[in-house]
Amino acid sequence: MPAHESATWHLESIAAHSGVGHDPVYGAVSTPIYQTVTYQHPGAELGPYDYSRTENPTRHSAQDAINRLDNGAGALVYSSGMAALAALVHTLHQGDHVIITEDAYGGTYRLMVDIFAKFGIASTMVNTRNVNQVEKHITSKTRLFIVETPSNPLLRISPLSELAQLAHAYDAHLAVDNTFMTPIRQRPLELGADYVVYSATKYLAGHNDVLAGAIVCKTPEQYNLLNDLTNATGSILGPWDAWLLLRGMKTLAIRMDRQESNARSIAQFLSKHPNVRHVYYPEQAEPDMKRLHLRQASGHGAMLSFVLAQPESYARVMDKLHIILPAVSLGGVESLITHPYNETHRELPEPMRRELGIIPGLMRVSVGIEHIDDLLNDLDNALR
Ligand SMILES: Cc1ncc(COP(=O)(O)O)c(C=O)c1O
Repeated sequence: MPAHESATWHLESIAAHSGVGHDPVYGAVSTPIYQTVTYQHPGAELGPYDYSRTENPTRHSAQDAINRLDNGAGALVYSSGMAALAALVHTLHQGDHVIITEDAYGGTYRLMVDIFAKFGIASTMVNTRNVNQVEKHITSKTRLFIVETPSNPLLRISPLSELAQLAHAYDAHLAVDNTFMTPIRQRPLELGADYVVYSATKYLAGHNDVLAGAIVCKTPEQYNLLNDLTNATGSILGPWDAWLLLRGMKTLAIRMDRQESNARSIAQFLSKHPNVRHVYYPEQAEPDMKRLHLRQASGHGAMLSFVLAQPESYARVMDKLHIILPAVSLGGVESLITHPYNETHRELPEPMRRELGIIPGLMRVSVGIEHIDDLLNDLDNALR
């Protein structure tokens, strides 16, 4: 924790002070961009920094900021969310087995099936909403659960405390991909998780201008292991990108408030629209799911999906939108719409997509900070 901060600060204050207090020489309020590969040794001994793959002050500052928000024992930032997930799986050994939320981000599925399976790390996609189902898929080799809640793109809710207990009972770790909620809305370590993983590309950075990933660890041992592993593999975040991430994080809390407020209005609007068959948004989930979500999160977030009454019209709807941009990714200030069936989740085999509900009529919206009237008019116009 930077010296000027207090343990009693609220998350909004911690976020606004991301990167403050990290320039011991000039007291720069914004962490400087230390665009250097190497560091001159002060004498015969090494200084605090040696080589920027191992450690860099700007990256260090971004790691501190994220760690503080999630109340971890240490955080690491990576060149993308996928690099963070890959680093996490690198903590396993050949023969180990991983359980993954069945409608997790398609890239997580691809990473496990196309890459890590070749090295003898097997994985099973499971309905993690149901703890009994998860238990049935545990083997003597299961060492890690990777859970998304709310999941992508169906916003399904998994019980984090129960999953943490289950994982620990079988000597496994629980990692939560908290990209959608951010630490402002959900803090998995406090619910028993061992790792929190982020595509920091999304809400943490928030401006659709930088790729980044992060892992926050529950214990110093996990942090040390990942730190060594990351130094060995080299998938670190560069100083410029670490600075952009820090800059974005300063406004995380107010962006979340505004984006969530817009998303709630859009979800209500869509649920009454004649050309929409179903809306997926935690606030509109079945009562049990909604209750569970609010037990572990302090808000509903700004991601929603909906099913068109006429599935074949998806391309025309996307074409008619002007303020909501047809583009993959999420969490930035600009609203984006995607077609998960053909885009983010195309890696999943077709029967699996259909079985999960990732059908051709499904659209996913990442709601931005624009004026709500403009967003509603845009949607209404396109849906008509
Ligand atoms: C939930 C989730 N996790 C991980 C990732 C991967 O992150 P990145 O694109 O930063 O590699 C994404 C990307 O969309 C995502 O949505």
